[in-house]
Amino acid sequence: MASLGITAQSLSAYTVGVADEALVGEGIVRFVPEKFDSTVTPMLILSHEPASIGAKPAGWSLNPRYSVTDRGVECVIALPDGVSLYGGGEVTGPLLRNGQKIKMWNTDTGMYLVDGGSRLYQTHPWVMGVRPDGTAFGVLFDTFHKGELLTADDRIEFVAEGTPYKTYVIESATPQGVLKGLAELTGTIEMPPLWAIGYHQCRFSYAPESRAREVASTFRQKKIPCDVMWFDINYMDGFRVFTVSPDEFPDPKAMNDFLHDNGFKSVYMIDPGVKVDPDYFVYATGHDKNVFVTDAYGNEFHGKVWPGDCAFPDYTRPETRRWWGGLYKDFLANGIDGVWNDMNEPSVFDGPGGTIPENCMHRGGGNLPAGRHSMWHNAYGRLMVEASRDGIMAANPDKRPFLLSRSNILGGQRYAAMWTGDNAASYDHMKLSVPMSLTLGLSGQPFNGPDIGGFAGNTDGDLYGNWLGFGAFFPFSRGHASCDTNDKEPWAFGKDVEREARMAIERRYRLMPYIYTAFRAAHTDGQPVMAPVFFADPTDSNLRAEEQAFLIGQDLLVVPAFAEQPALPANFTQKLSLVKGDTKGKYQAELRVRDGSIIPAGRVVQNMTENPFEPLTLIVCPDADGNAHGTMYWDEGDGWSFRDGNYVEFDFTARREGRDIVVTINTVNGNYPLDIDRVNVEVLHNGKTYRAAGTAASPIKVKI
Ligand code: GLC
Repeated sequence: MASLGITAQSLSAYTVGVADEALVGEGIVRFVPEKFDSTVTPMLILSHEPASIGAKPAGWSLNPRYSVTDRGVECVIALPDGVSLYGGGEVTGPLLRNGQKIKMWNTDTGMYLVDGGSRLYQTHPWVMGVRPDGTAFGVLFDTFHKGELLTADDRIEFVAEGTPYKTYVIESATPQGVLKGLAELTGTIEMPPLWAIGYHQCRFSYAPESRAREVASTFRQKKIPCDVMWFDINYMDGFRVFTVSPDEFPDPKAMNDFLHDNGFKSVYMIDPGVKVDPDYFVYATGHDKNVFVTDAYGNEFHGKVWPGDCAFPDYTRPETRRWWGGLYKDFLANGIDGVWNDMNEPSVFDGPGGTIPENCMHRGGGNLPAGRHSMWHNAYGRLMVEASRDGIMAANPDKRPFLLSRSNILGGQRYAAMWTGDNAASYDHMKLSVPMSLTLGLSGQPFNGPDIGGFAGNTDGDLYGNWLGFGAFFPFSRGHASCDTNDKEPWAFGKDVEREARMAIERRYRLMPYIYTAFRAAHTDGQPVMAPVFFADPTDSNLRAEEQAFLIGQDLLVVPAFAEQPALPANFTQKLSLVKGDTKGKYQAELRVRDGSIIPAGRVVQNMTENPFEPLTLIVCPDADGNAHGTMYWDEGDGWSFRDGNYVEFDFTARREGRDIVVTINTVNGNYPLDIDRVNVEVLHNGKTYRAAGTAASPIKVKI
């Protein structure tokens, strides 16, 4: 398969049989084709090889048919009528994927312009289908080779280079169950540090350090909540990774101390390209240890990125991953809290197709075979973040790592969160950011979000306000901007937009207990933090294509201000106000609560080092019978003690007693001593809010 422009019907196709099919989990069948060769397609996507627990169930309807053609190894799954298709990971285009074709060749695609946006930075050979009755299935093609995915109404067609690959098919009564099955196969995100689900502020670049201090201080002066300041490539010394500019950032430790003293965490960028410079310790040690990708003749390959000529670590080698991981210890000792791995498709400015030439060599090791770059390309970012994460963990074993990556593959959520790369400051990209994030959540990567406000090009106040008005609810919520654009901080567009921006971010902070609980479900069960509205009722065919409005968790509906005639689930009847004036805000998304649910909220804090539970507010939305239910997860917010039971899970119930709604709080799990003195209850009923206050110790009655 020389090019990705695959259209011709092959004359020389031959069929490949299925050598083994077995049940490997509840409703999960693994199909192993003849000629499967683990030395060509080793396990990278799955977290472990699942054991066979029985035979394929009788009547199993979705079965792959393999063939080898001049396009590569094809796998076709015929579909019944009326199926809605989703997934495919990081994609442009609509949420509903029927009739879409995407290419799987990780690409640095500024403004999503390469090949009309049909290939992006990541590869997710995964499709989810929902039948008219709401039952669902998932199909995982277990390969990272260059490929193409067609999701037609009547079939899923996947083709990839390499030898025949395994296919997993998951069947479940619900789409949520399919994602649970995907999590069983590929793992889930680690529980993030609490600060990482706050609001993040980024720019290419905040430099020199006085500018970074100024931006951080302005957040505090203006009382706009923010947890994280980001440092893009200009903090480095001549774009050399793992160095800090002595001129612009003379004392990084003191600057990070300043940020910490003001309640901020810091995240710094690390790219894979290592500047070719014998006097630079990273290049010199890497060269000595022979860790870099070579050309076809065994010479170190060099290509241009930000610093000029660079060498590229060959992360297929265990020695390289150890060396790379080891570089983080001294670097993080500057008081750095999180890491941002970028340009890891990898992007090479003067390389063919913008990457490493396909005939370059990766030498492999362990269970990873040696192979040409054409084979290893899509796994490059995934192997890089594995090495980074291991290094970060070794440096700070008692902290939860926060790592953000631009490139990755399906299953890579185990190592890193992601953002959707270099979008544009346009209304089209603002609207597109919703289906992109939703699709990622349906593809095993719940911790994602776009550059809010738009990366490339100038942003005006209307666009910024509109984007942040719902962008404050992305699982990963970060404003970012390219180097040659206008300022895009919340106060950069005048007083009115500043007020709206504060309001949007304050709404997120009030919901932190609820959002953290949704992250817990992502960690334990692979559930999306941001979900499509059809998750509220998978049997309602009207909701299947809705891609303006979305859910956070299961109980909160977000309808962006830009939404025109969104299709909304019927059982979210009550509107929610979280901050004074927010329901009248020009740019604020409309928030609605599911009938029968209870949402835990905190107070507005400026960052997550402050206690949000003064008081805890329970937003109760009784169903027609006066009942409601909710949960809340909380823990230390960092570290690993939650694994030993140092967490708390509350269960909230409400029931009607005469004219009262009675709310009860129970601790159901864990022993984290969360002190909640005061509890405010707000009952939303027929468009009105009824209030009462009490303590967690005894039931709270609200008259309605
Ligand atoms: C890439 C990243 C972008 C970053 C820039 C400079 O374009 O996608 O987020 O700002 O590089 O490092």
